[in-house]
Amino acid sequence: MQQDGGRMQLQDVLFTQGFGTRRICAGLVQQGHVAVGGRAVLDSGAEFVTRGLRFCVDGTEWEYHEHAYLMLHKPAGTECSRKPSAHPGVYTLLPAPLRQRPQHGAAPGVQAVGRLDQDTTGLLLLTDDGQFIHRMNSPRRHVPKVYEVTVKHPVDDAQVARLLQGVMLQDEARPVRAAACDRAGERQLLLTLTEGKYHQVKRMVAAAGNRVEALHRSRIGGLALPPDLLPGQWRWLQEADLAALTA
Ligand code: URA
Repeated sequence: MQQDGGRMQLQDVLFTQGFGTRRICAGLVQQGHVAVGGRAVLDSGAEFVTRGLRFCVDGTEWEYHEHAYLMLHKPAGTECSRKPSAHPGVYTLLPAPLRQRPQHGAAPGVQAVGRLDQDTTGLLLLTDDGQFIHRMNSPRRHVPKVYEVTVKHPVDDAQVARLLQGVMLQDEARPVRAAACDRAGERQLLLTLTEGKYHQVKRMVAAAGNRVEALHRSRIGGLALPPDLLPGQWRWLQEADLAALTA
C-alpha cells in the first residue's frame, strides 16, 4: 500500500488509520468528508506523503501514525480485557478509529500493554504494535513500574522489609520481591515492581500482612503519568515518551 517516497492514496491512509473498510474510506473521501491542508479532497486515489500527514475527517484533525502508541489514564471500574465481563472496557474511552485500526493476523485496534485490575487506576499503555507489546512485557527487560498503594492497616517497618526481601506467592517457586518500597504515609506505600505477575501488588501486600484498598500506577520506566491527563483521558505517546519508557 505504501508507495515509493512514503506516498499513499488517501483512501488507504484512512483505511490504515481505522476509518473502516477500503470501500467505506473511498466513500468518505468521495463524499467530501476528508480535508487535507484545509481543503476537501474528493479524489480517493490522490496520493500524499504519509510522514507527518495531517488530515481532517468531518472536522476532526488526525495525524497519520504507522503504529499507534498511546497512554491512557485508566479510571477505576474499567476492564483491560477485550471482552469485558462486568465493567466497561478501557477501549470504550478511545475514538472509534483507534479501536478499528487493521492489524495483520491479530484482533483489530490497539491493545493494552499488560493489564491493570478493574479497580486499579493510572498509567496504561496501548498500541497496535505487537512487537512493542512483546518487548515491554518481556520478563528479561525488567521495566520498572511504580505503584501508589493505599493499604488498610498502618504500614510498619517489618512489612516494608518483607516486601523488599521477598514474599512467597502461590504458584511461584521463588520469593517475589519489590525493586523498591517506600512508606509514603501511614497507610501509603510507593512500590516499584519489575515483573507483571497476576494481581502482583495485591498478593504481595497480602503476603506481607496488609491489604490493598486502592492502587494507582504512576510510572512505567521513565514515563510518568502526566498530572494534566485526567482519568479517562488518553494521548499519543511522543518520541521522547517512547524513549523514556525504556530509559
Ligand atoms: N498489581 C495488582 O495487584 N493489580 C494491578 O492492577 C496491577 C498490579
